[in-house]
Amino acid sequence: MKKIVINGGRSLTGEVTISGAKNSAVALIPAAILANSPVILEGVPDIQDVHSLIEILEIMGAKITFSNNVLEIDPTEIVSVPMPNGKINSLRASYYFMGTLLGKFGEAVVGLPGGCYLGPRPIDLHVKGFEALGVQVTNEHGAMYLRTESDQMQGNRIFMDVVSVGATINIMLAAVKAKGQTIIENAAREPEIIDVATLLNNMGAKVRGAGTDIIRIDGVEELHGCRHFMIPDRIEAGTYLALAAAAGNGIKVKNVIFEHLESFIAKLQEIGVKMKISEDEIEVYPSTDLKAVNVMTYPYPGFATDLQQPLTPLLLMTSGTAEIIDTIYAKRVNHVPELARMGADISVEGNMIIVNGPSKLHGAEVVASDLRAGACLVIAGLLAEGTTTIYNVEYILRGYDHIIEKLTALGASIEMIEEVEAE
Ligand code: UD1
Repeated sequence: MKKIVINGGRSLTGEVTISGAKNSAVALIPAAILANSPVILEGVPDIQDVHSLIEILEIMGAKITFSNNVLEIDPTEIVSVPMPNGKINSLRASYYFMGTLLGKFGEAVVGLPGGCYLGPRPIDLHVKGFEALGVQVTNEHGAMYLRTESDQMQGNRIFMDVVSVGATINIMLAAVKAKGQTIIENAAREPEIIDVATLLNNMGAKVRGAGTDIIRIDGVEELHGCRHFMIPDRIEAGTYLALAAAAGNGIKVKNVIFEHLESFIAKLQEIGVKMKISEDEIEVYPSTDLKAVNVMTYPYPGFATDLQQPLTPLLLMTSGTAEIIDTIYAKRVNHVPELARMGADISVEGNMIIVNGPSKLHGAEVVASDLRAGACLVIAGLLAEGTTTIYNVEYILRGYDHIIEKLTALGASIEMIEEVEAE
């Protein structure tokens, strides 16, 4: 068990460079097995979810090297391995193996995904999409069994009832190898979807319209290896921007695609955060007179649910009352009691989080309940007077590349401690 200990109240300054996008990486890595020769991914974040996926690929027989953020995946000797449980259950994005194993072998056995608990996270849209392609899907003892009914998946028109990142990508991953054309309507438009489509097209697929709500995929017989440079992580960038606005004394956030963060930056501007935005970096200046604002999360390009929790410590520094409604995950509120333990005036009323600022935070012992709640508590710990200890930090390490090193370079007093369990 690991814990993070922060001595807060220091002013932070300097530069931080954003790593590759976690939510892209967790789809690009399973996508690589569709190729018949090596795929080289550049800019891959060094995070636990990536290491878990590498372990899963190695179990299937892939040859992998990973150094300096370059991940080479040689899928030529991969075999179809049933994965009803084990490592596959440790991350949500393991559901992408349903799409890629179907594309590769026409069948898959994949344990139901784990990952962060944000309230109910169904996969009915993924299943409906596969069924539309002619796949028989059954749930047996917590594992999904998928088998193509005829000898090949057949393209189809699929309308998504709810805008879903995971289902859009998963159907795309299967459809690139289906016979004929698949049209995904009401598709999610996240930048990570464009990144996955770009990789697939570089591998020889025919995917058009990624980034809009209609994606057309013409199936192909074969996909080949390629080299792909992935996009930076807009959620990690947003986390450091929120931190810079709340606790920074001049921080430059580098390797950022501003267009991926427009709704978030607009919110920071509404709060009164002063920034200089350049082509691929954003400098955040110390700001005063910060104003409370309301936040409502939506699918991209709306305000990302993943940035709701990291923004909250900044809202605690503003004057007035802020209301947050998460329309994607209404139960994403487990950070609220932890922040209250640190002295925050924050509560949940119905489907709304109410933040009253300015709040003076003090150090406390808190528990990270999920990845972004963990990031929120790290920022709160940096703002608080005294010592904050965060438990369950494995969640944070799933998605934040070298977070201790990056924050230490900004002047934070933060360390990770491995707890030795009593015999
Ligand atoms: C992805 C992101 C996650 C982010 C979320 C929403 C990855 C690995 N994770 O998760 O960080 O918080 O998008 O931006 O990329 N839904 C259904 N049925 C389904 C699938 C989803 O009803 O079959 C609902 C969900 O309950 C949720 C909404 O659709 O309310 C959006 O979920 P979705 O976009 O699918 O989230 P994930 O892909 O799991």
